[in-house]
Order: sequence, then C-alpha cells, then structure tokens
Amino acid sequence: MLRPDQDQVIRLTDYRPTDFQLATVDMRVQLFAEHADVLTVLQLERRAGAPATADLVLDGDELALVSLALDGTPVDPSQYDATPQGLTIRGLPESGSFTLAIETRLQPQLNTQLMGLYRSGGVWCTQCEAEGFRRITYFLDRPDVLATYRVRVEADKAEAPVLLSNGNPAEHGLLDGGRHFAVWDDPFPKPSYLFALVAGDLDRLGDHFTTMSGRRVALDIYTEKGRAHEALYAMDALKRSMVWDEQRFGREYDLDVFSIVAISDFNMGAMENKGLNVFNHKYVLLDSETATDGDYAGVETVIAHEYFHNWTGNRITCRDWFQLCLKEGLTVYRDQEFSADERSAAVKRIASVRGLTAHQFPEDQGPLQHPVRPSEYREISNFYTATIYDKGAELVRMIATIVGQAGFRAGMDLYFARHDGDAATIEDFLACFVEATGADLTQFALWYSQAGTPVLKVEERFDADRGELTLTLGQHLAQGPAGTGTLPMHIPVRFGLVGANGQDLVPAPRDGAPVEGDVIHLRDAETTIVFEGLGERPYLSILRDFSAAVALRTSQRERDRLALARLDGNPFNRWRALSDLVGEALQAATIDARGGNPVRLNPAIAEALIATALDETLEPALRAQALSLPSEADIARLLGENVDPDAIHIARDAVVTAIGRQGEKRFAPLFAGLARQGAFSPDADSAGRRALASVLLDFLLAASGTPDRAVQQFRTADNMTEQFAALTMLCHRFPEDDATRDALAAFYSRFETNALVIDKWFSLQATVPSPSALATVRALTAHPAFRLANPNRARALIGAFAAGNQIGFNRADGAGYAFVAEMIQALDELNPQVAARIATAFRSWRCFDSGRREKARAALAQLSEMKGLSTDVKDIVERSLR
Ligand code: ARG
Ligand code: ZN
Repeated sequence: MLRPDQDQVIRLTDYRPTDFQLATVDMRVQLFAEHADVLTVLQLERRAGAPATADLVLDGDELALVSLALDGTPVDPSQYDATPQGLTIRGLPESGSFTLAIETRLQPQLNTQLMGLYRSGGVWCTQCEAEGFRRITYFLDRPDVLATYRVRVEADKAEAPVLLSNGNPAEHGLLDGGRHFAVWDDPFPKPSYLFALVAGDLDRLGDHFTTMSGRRVALDIYTEKGRAHEALYAMDALKRSMVWDEQRFGREYDLDVFSIVAISDFNMGAMENKGLNVFNHKYVLLDSETATDGDYAGVETVIAHEYFHNWTGNRITCRDWFQLCLKEGLTVYRDQEFSADERSAAVKRIASVRGLTAHQFPEDQGPLQHPVRPSEYREISNFYTATIYDKGAELVRMIATIVGQAGFRAGMDLYFARHDGDAATIEDFLACFVEATGADLTQFALWYSQAGTPVLKVEERFDADRGELTLTLGQHLAQGPAGTGTLPMHIPVRFGLVGANGQDLVPAPRDGAPVEGDVIHLRDAETTIVFEGLGERPYLSILRDFSAAVALRTSQRERDRLALARLDGNPFNRWRALSDLVGEALQAATIDARGGNPVRLNPAIAEALIATALDETLEPALRAQALSLPSEADIARLLGENVDPDAIHIARDAVVTAIGRQGEKRFAPLFAGLARQGAFSPDADSAGRRALASVLLDFLLAASGTPDRAVQQFRTADNMTEQFAALTMLCHRFPEDDATRDALAAFYSRFETNALVIDKWFSLQATVPSPSALATVRALTAHPAFRLANPNRARALIGAFAAGNQIGFNRADGAGYAFVAEMIQALDELNPQVAARIATAFRSWRCFDSGRREKARAALAQLSEMKGLSTDVKDIVERSLR
C-alpha cells in the first residue's frame, strides 16, 4: 500500500479557530453492494474577522470527489483542488452564508482500517473518532466545528431493514427497486467525530426509560441475528447508568431514542456517537455460559462509560484533540464512580489502581511517556492511552479530593451549566472548580502538562517522650523522554494514624501544617509535618485510597506493614500493605532465583495472606484481590532494570507454591465452602466468591502438583467464569499434560461458533508462560479460525502474546520480538491503528538485561526501516527508540 508521507507534528500552540463557520450538515448516504454514494450539503459562512481571501481547506483521507456545487451551481475546476487528502476551494463569498454540496463515492467493503464507513459481517457501520469522518466526505474534521445534522440513509430493504443515524427518527419510506430510506435528525450541534450511521439486518432488544423529568426514551440494542437475548445484561447496565447519572450528577438524557449497536469488527471498545453508540460486540453480548465475571464487569463499565459521554464529551466536547482527557479522563472517573456505587467501592478502587500501575505506570516511565494533556502529536490515534484515560481519571479524582465531594459537585454543575454546547479546554474545566470552591488549582494544573510518575517519599520518626510523630514527605519527578518539566506539584495525600487496636486516631498536626482533615497537601519538594499528643506510636497509613498517582516509597518496616495488613480501617490500604510486602518478597525471590539459589519466603508474609483469606469480616472479592499476587510484569516493573523474566517466572512460581503449601490445609475447606448453592448469578457478591475460590484453587494446584482439581472443575462448571479459570490454570500450570490438551480441544469444539469465546481460546494459549509459547502462537496464525483482519482476533493472539506473555515475548534469543515485529508489519497493511497498538508492547524494552535489550532494539530498528509503514506504527516505533 502506498501512503503519503504525513510526518507533520501537530502542536497545541498552533491552535486557531477555522476561517469558516459551519451551521448545518445535510447528508444523503446511498448504500449499494459495491459502493456507497455520499452527498453532503454544508451550510457555511466566513467567520467575522477571518481574512476575506482565505481559502476553505477541507480534510480528506483516501477520498474520491464526484462533484462539487456552490449554492446549487457546479464549481469551476479552476476554483478548487481535490486530492484524496483534501479539498481546497478558492474565491468563496466574503460574507453571508452559502452552501457547498459535495459528492463522494466510497467502497466500504474494502475498508480494512475500520475507520470511516466500513462493513462488518455484512453490516454497514462507521467509526469517526478521531479523524474518520474525513474518510466519508471532505470536511472541517476537527472537534471545535459543531453543526446540526440531518441524515438520510438509503439501502436495499431486504439487505438492510435497519437504517440508523444520530438523533431522533424523522421520516422513513419505500423507494423503487426494493430499496427504502430513513431520515434522522440530530438537534444537538456536534462535531463530526460523533457522527454515526449503521445499516443492516440486525436483531433488536427494545426497552424504554423514563427520565427524571418524565420523558420517555426508547432504548434499543441491535445485535447480529439471533443474539438479542445476549444483550439483556447490557440493557440493564444502561438503565442503571441512566439512573445513576441523574442521581449523582443531575444529568438527564436528551433525545427520544438511545441506541447501541454491537459490531464484530471494531478497533476499540466502543464509541459514544450521539444517540447511537457503536460497540465492539465484546462489550454488549454475554451470558453466563460464554462470559466470565470479568466480562460482565467490563460490559457494565463500557456501557456506562459511553452513556456518560453524552454529557462529558457530547454536550460538552473538546476544543482540539490535545484536550482529549477532558472527555476521557472525566468519563473514566465517572464510570469508576458508577462501578464503585454499583459494586464495592474498595474492590473497585483496588482494581482501578492495579490497572493504573500495570498499564499507565510503564507508559509514563518509558519512551512512550506523554503528559495527560500532550502538547504535540503526529498521529492522534496513538493517544487513546492509559495516560489520557486512566491517569486523566486520577487527576479528576485528585481534584475531588482537593475540593471535597460537595465542592466537586458544585464545580461539575458549573461546568455543565457554563459549557453546554461548547468545545472546551482543560483551563475551562479547572476554572469551574476554582470559581465554585475558591480553591487554587494553579500548581495542580502542572499535573496536566508534566509527564512522568512522581516519586513520593515518606519518612517517619516517632519521639515517645514528647508523643510526637514527625513525617517528612518529599516529591521528585525525574525528567523523562517527554522533557516536560519537573516542578513540584500539588499532591493530595490522604492518610490515617492507626492505633494499636486498629482504630483511627484523630491527628493533631502542629499549627501551620498543610493538613486538612485526613489530607496532607504536599506542595513543596519536601515538607515536614509534626503530629502531637500521641500516647503511643501509631501505624502510619499513608496515601489512603491511592489519593494521588504517585510511586510511593516509604521507610516502613515489615512489622508495621504486617500490622497494617491486619488492622488498617481503610480497606484499600490494608490491601496495599499486603501487596507491598508480597511485592518485596517477590523481588527478593527473583534475586534468589537469578543467582541459582533456592527461593525463600518469610513464613510471616505467607501467614498474613492466609489470615486474610480466612478473614470472614472481609468481603470475598477483597480477599481475592489480596491473594492475587503481583503479575510477572508487575515484578519486572518493580525491579525496574536489568530484568530477567525467566528468573521472575521461577521466583513467582516458587512463592505461590510456598504459600500454597503453608496454607493448603486451611485453603482446601475454604475453597470447598465457597461452592455455590442454587442458580448462577453474575452479581458482585457471587462474582467475589468465585474470584476467591479461583485464587485458592491456584494455590491448591501449586501445592499439590497435580491437575486433578482443575480437571474436575473444568468438567463440571456450568458457567464460563469457573470453566475458563480451570482451563487457564491447566494451561499455565500443566501445559504439557494430556488433560490440558483434551480440555483445550473440548473447549474449542464446544464454542467453535462463538467468536468471543474462541478469542479467549486463542489468548489463553498465547499467554502460556513458556518459551515454547512462540511456536504455539506461530502455528495458531495458520489456524482456520485465525483472521488477522479482525481486531479482536489479532489482539487475542498477537496482542496477548506481546503484552501478556513475559517470557514468551521476551525470549532471550529475540525470536519473540522478531515474530511480533513481523506480525505488526503484516497487520499494518490492513489496520494501522490495531498494528500500532500492538507495537506498544515494546515500550518497556529498556528494562531488560543487555542481551534482550539489544534484540528488542534490533527488532524495532528493523521495523522502523520498513517501507510503506503507516504513520501510526512509525510514530510508536520511533518514539519507542528515542
Ligand atoms: N471515545 C471512545 C471511547 O470512549 C474511543 C474511541 C477511540 N477511537 C479511536 N479511533 N482511537 O472510549
Ligand atoms: Zn471514552
């Protein structure tokens, strides 16, 4: 494929509004078997103050212009230049509004990039964020150009009985030749990235919702034929999301219909198009036989996330793509809060923080580092990252901590009131909290511009004679590859002083200390705080609930952590005390293993884990989190440099086995007691019990050394959670066993026709921690069910191997790197976005030992020299090498 060289860097400082203002968009999209004809009529006007001679420059991407008319008259070819990449029109009216009618012809069936208009399993659908609309028509394809849209869709009625676009249905009817049409009207001005169109033969799950002001909204979820019943849980999650946004944020839905369409070929998770969300079917379709508890939680979160975008993203959108976190970070924060309210707040927080440290920390600490609000980019698709989404959400959470819950709500109310209908910036957002609460967020704003994870160092000293605890808090931000500055930031540090019986002492900070209630406001590079009037030395519970996105370093002794793991009234910190203990033990174990020494584990740490497992006062889901040890990738990140993944694997396995042996006699009855009575239910409590049973099973398997219990569970499970957990343990612990081979084959033949389950089957084999996984993965690329062009399948096999198989991908001989590079190149021909995403698996390459480092560098360097590479992949590869 030949690609134009688009190597320009886009900079935030270059932002300026368009010379032309757009008021309305009127489209007619005619869908045919081999092509689609698109007629777009734009009503435009030169902006007051814009140069009278400025040309109108419209974006395009692989477009073919069929015709162009100005106020109904064909435009003379001398007056415009049309290329696949853009349309420039000269001599447009100096003042007054005019219309431009643009006709383009597309070939959706050949669109493998899955951006713009494409076909997935026969269904026509669109993906326009960030810059896909320019693949449908020439346009001012940027988020600060808002217009109302009226869209007429025409297609063969038998092939596409369902015709959808944004907004409310206006008209529909029959046409000659077995064709029909539908017209949709969206009264809310929106940017082009929120445009959507869907046409096909789909099933529909219908329901409705009555909003807080009593308006009736039709809710429709469209699925492939015969699968509407698999959308019941998604529908339930949608209705709960609608209630929650009314109660928590006072936000009501605004159209007469809200539709969701499940699509099998989709680059991302889902898309919040106005009134017509388009979803990867992975986040819509499920039932207990085919989906795990994790899948249920994922559906709930993504349904909520996209729905919440209606206010944070759609009613208020972003001025430019540098402000992406304005909608994404805020909406992730909102979906996290929703899940916390619907499920368990502590468990949700632990899961979010584990996700942040596993995905965002390595990004922030490696070559792909960028600020939450970047100041430049080459390819915006590469900025839908953990930093924008998850660290972006942490910044919103920090604002809530700084201004308090009531202040946060007041600031949000002001934001909605003031910016409804706007394309806003981070400055606009922050100003609302400043005005609503009087807080000073000047220093806090550095969090948006400075990349990297600050290290928060905490030292404590207790003076028993005076009854004083002295805390020294220091922050340090290293200059990283993004080069964005290292000034001290405003870090809200939630804390508690825990007494000997686990009760929280009331802290009495010495006058003038930057402490408000249970929050220390660290603003300087270093601050010393003295707490007075303490009769005994308290246990310091610091950074409760992970109140800031920092890497915490404490001088806390093992004894204190063991006590906090038992006593801390803050469940999150109780979890972290254990997790830190285990993390350190795993690092020490890795050093043992690397030196060829036997791996040791302090029995007191194992005992703390066992005690937590048995603690009936803790909800099972929390106990399951406490018992899920840091992953091999987590250990690699903790070690930081010169990492040998083989040693990590040996060490982690030995530690699991040691805990299993020490706990076996107590784990076995606990495991047996968790067996379910009655019918399966996906609710959070039941899922928590299954999660606890599952970690216990893994310890029991490690201790016994035989697969029997897993084989038994695999055979008798009546739900995917338990069945897949058993299969995973078989594959990971007993990869060579006949029982494992039989189970994998049985699983495949049972679920052959369900693509989402077969994705799991591919992923599982790709993540078997063994150097021989590479041969398996290579062989699976030739499996009849493997299709590189399907993003879910490509991610399930190649993505899972690269990002989820530490020892397979990082093989010492470099064969893992070479294979993934080869697959990236092949995938880049079809779908640059997904190829670029998989390429980010290389981001931690500098952390490994020198042998691996050289092999990884060579693979990246070779990739970067490939001819015809997309901007997407080139950008990731070149930044990874910097
Ligand atoms: N806005 C979508 C979401 O919430 C993601 C769309 C990303 N699209 C893309 N082409 N990168 O989560
Ligand atoms: Zn989003």
